[in-house]
Amino acid sequence: MFELNKATMIYDADKEEKVYAMKEIDLELPDTGLVGIIGPSGSGKSTMMYAMSTLKKLTAGDILYNGESLSTISDKRRQELRRNEFGFVFQRHYLIPYMTAIENAIVASNDPASEARKKAVKILTDIGLKEKELNKTPSKLSGGQRQRVAIARAMMNDPKVLFADEPTASLDHENAYLVMGRLKEYSRNRLVVVITHDRSIIRDADMFVEIWDGSVSNVGGAVL
Ligand SMILES: Nc1ncnc2c1ncn2[C@@H]1O[C@H](COP(=O)(O)OP(=O)(O)O)[C@@H](O)[C@H]1O
Ligand SMILES: [Mg+2]
Repeated sequence: MFELNKATMIYDADKEEKVYAMKEIDLELPDTGLVGIIGPSGSGKSTMMYAMSTLKKLTAGDILYNGESLSTISDKRRQELRRNEFGFVFQRHYLIPYMTAIENAIVASNDPASEARKKAVKILTDIGLKEKELNKTPSKLSGGQRQRVAIARAMMNDPKVLFADEPTASLDHENAYLVMGRLKEYSRNRLVVVITHDRSIIRDADMFVEIWDGSVSNVGGAVL
């Protein structure tokens, strides 16, 4: 599904102090499954995910998504991919404060309103929200509940790829495992890419990629 060919990202290329966030990374990811990207802070994990999801453009090299070069695609096609094929979950939830859990989940939905609502209720309850929480605004929900709403929102358009950057970083263990369990389930017929610096939460990953200082230092089928 994703193929990185000498994928390179240099920040501040025009300055004296260049930052080599990705150094000629070669990597292939499968069509489905849970892929864990691990590595210390500053190693280039987020940069790699943003480049794969078209949020950032490489300095050199290329990334192919189903054979399509992400370096040369049009803005229109990039928007299509982000809207229809990719879903995003970030460390911070970025929910809209004055909207309820349901409204937040359907905010970027491509479905007609009544269908979107039904779907949101199903996804939100599947992921562990209680009926009475569905009409609460984010400030009335716990951190774990807010992050579940963010994940539900990311799943609304059935993305083929779900990108999650440290999705459990602000959660306690119980909520972290619940969220990871749902992502694992989703990865049965979709690709889920999860960044973390905590190995224990991606014990169930089908593949893991270790990043060290802008390079892939290890790739494996199970967490070491
Ligand atoms: N927009 C930016 N401009 C300059 N340097 C950046 C930018 N974003 C990230 N970096 C640097 O690139 C390197 C990799 O960052 P990042 O991909 O965020 O790593 P990680 O997600 O593993 O913590 C770090 O040295 C970071 O400081
Ligand atoms: Mg990061």
